[in-house]
Amino acid sequence: MKIIDDIKKRAKKINATIVIPEANLDKRVYEAAKQILDNKISKLIVFGKNSEFDDSFKTKDCQIIDITTYKDLDKFAKDLYEIRKAKGMSIEEANRLVRRPDYFSMMLLKDDLADGMVAGATWSTADTLRPALQVIKTKKDKPIVTGITLMVKENADPKVFADVSLIENPTSENLADIAISSAEFIEKVLGLEPKVAMLSYSTKGSAKSEMVDKVQIATEIANKKSNYLIDGEMQVDSALDKSTAVKKGVTSKVGGEANVLVFPDLNAGNIGYKLVARMGGYTAIGPIMLNFNKPVNDLSRGSNVEEIINTICITKLLI
Ligand SMILES: CC(C)(COP(=O)(O)OP(=O)(O)OC[C@H]1O[C@@H](n2cnc3c(N)ncnc32)[C@H](O)[C@@H]1OP(=O)(O)O)[C@@H](O)C(=O)NCCC(=O)NCCS
Repeated sequence: MKIIDDIKKRAKKINATIVIPEANLDKRVYEAAKQILDNKISKLIVFGKNSEFDDSFKTKDCQIIDITTYKDLDKFAKDLYEIRKAKGMSIEEANRLVRRPDYFSMMLLKDDLADGMVAGATWSTADTLRPALQVIKTKKDKPIVTGITLMVKENADPKVFADVSLIENPTSENLADIAISSAEFIEKVLGLEPKVAMLSYSTKGSAKSEMVDKVQIATEIANKKSNYLIDGEMQVDSALDKSTAVKKGVTSKVGGEANVLVFPDLNAGNIGYKLVARMGGYTAIGPIMLNFNKPVNDLSRGSNVEEIINTICITKLLI
């Protein structure tokens, strides 16, 4: 698919090192890392013993780290303790955690020894992201991390779906931030003019309830905070079909032309993107986490090799 080929080509040009902590734990991740190295798409760091990896990994583009004998474990433990002591972490706990691949990866990122991380083929989303939320944290001007997917299909316009993986029950303020971050993503990564639809089961006041109020308020906040084209609340048919949008009173360019769909909660977002992937024939790239100080991305545990490679490439584009 052209859009995926473009993403790969652009990723290849970025000189960066991505940590792949599950390469020695999962065959799909191993194969994805091998293909990344064979095709010189990225420099990588993997964990394990030399004997666990074949010749593709034994190049100057790949560092194989045996965590159990890593020289800076004590330093990492002290650093983690300093970051988390106010939250009740003891030095003993920090010492234990930095020996785990998830926290160890975060300490590599923190020390600028790597530029990004992709994991989650064998770990749950919560387990993959909690260390990043605690250690890497969000960029200064960004209050939240949000998990989006890029939905692509041959001969169809790409769309961003948000939030599909992280924020269970977003407030109006959260929804506004999700909308703005998603708009920034589609503009920066795909070079498209963002047209953001704030989704609901109601269009322009056709229904009244707290759930609708939440999306209406989010739309107002998002429009106060940014100059992006953001409109709502609207049903998904108004977002995707011009004539329905006109009938239902959506007059902006978002009606029928939306390329960013912001879902009202994680149930809707997660179900929505999987329906479109399974029944609509779209490929979902992601989930892609936006706003971390350094990019950390979470794989679905159902990911195949190609999806893992795509996520590694997108991670490089977020650096
Ligand atoms: C990601 C998740 C695990 C975080 O929740 P948690 O483990 O209970 O952790 P907490 O709420 O204690 O948060 C831990 C830290 O992350 C921060 N945090 C949590 N969510 C955040 C977000 N979206 N953006 C920025 N920071 C966030 C908290 O402020 C907290 O920081 P602190 O400890 O420095 O004060 C939780 O939001 C979650 O389970 N989401 C659903 C994920 C999921 O299952 N998705 C499946 C679909 S793929």
